[in-house]
Amino acid sequence: MYFGTATNQEQWNDTKYVDIMLEQFGSLTPANVQKWMFTEPEEGVFNYTAGDAFADFAAEHNQILLCDTLIWHQQYPSWLDQKNWTKDALLDVIDKHVYSEVSHFKDRCFSWNVVNEAFNEDGTFRESLFYNVTGTDYIATAFKAAARADPKAQLYYNDYNIEFPNNKSAAVENLVKSLQAQDAKIDAVGLQAHFIVNKTASEAQQQQQMQAYIDLGVQVVISELDVRFESLPPSEALLAQQTVDYEASIQACINVGKQCMGISVWDFVDTYSWVPTTFAGNGDACLWYSNYTTIPAFDGVVSVL
Ligand code: XIL
Repeated sequence: MYFGTATNQEQWNDTKYVDIMLEQFGSLTPANVQKWMFTEPEEGVFNYTAGDAFADFAAEHNQILLCDTLIWHQQYPSWLDQKNWTKDALLDVIDKHVYSEVSHFKDRCFSWNVVNEAFNEDGTFRESLFYNVTGTDYIATAFKAAARADPKAQLYYNDYNIEFPNNKSAAVENLVKSLQAQDAKIDAVGLQAHFIVNKTASEAQQQQQMQAYIDLGVQVVISELDVRFESLPPSEALLAQQTVDYEASIQACINVGKQCMGISVWDFVDTYSWVPTTFAGNGDACLWYSNYTTIPAFDGVVSVL
């Protein structure tokens, strides 16, 4: 089982940051550079320079490389929106993009997040460009292209708010069944686990949902864990609750056994967290504060591992 982090190259001139990353974590996920807008900025023009540098760094430091992400309704190149696609043409572009990128990184990625965030909260499909033009076909197309390009890579469907039983997690269970019925290889469901203190499902609920995916014949991973406060500074009570919430998902992963393959946080120091820029006023979501002291939950996390 790995315990890793997402990171960006821009942060690697911070030596304190890099020291902690290499000492404390066992897998790295590029937070940006493998996303479609960076790897195929113009149609058919592929750029893997930054992704290669990331992969080389991971290999040099014996870090498992978790690759992210092939098809997402955000951070895709603008040329995709500038054309009137037929269904066949867009499926072809998706196939070529996925096949090219996964082939390029073949044998270097332990896993790929193939499709990210395809669902709305109520379990209906998100009306992205991909869905609007191809219906649900883009999902199997992407998974099949990835499996063709690197048969050994673990292929994940990744999303948030699917860590506990609800309409969205039920929809993901149906997606897994549907991909299996189409003979598309899917190895695991990635649970993003971007949580809010005191609004996080219990360990029992998370374990139940992990088991529901596992019962379908796939594995699970916690892919982007962080537990944020909605306002700062937190009360003592909420600070204590952050430990409970961090421990809940980690313990649930441990409880289901090796079918939960690993855990990644979405960066580990608040300075570089996506949280404050995305959710105004929210913060302190990472295991290290910006001054590089650990949060109270850190010891709890270490104790359950
Ligand atoms: C975020 C990155 O961390 C940011 O740097 C970028 O500006 C936007 O994307 N869920 C995901 C990740 O699946 O890809 C997102 O990463 C965070 C939320």
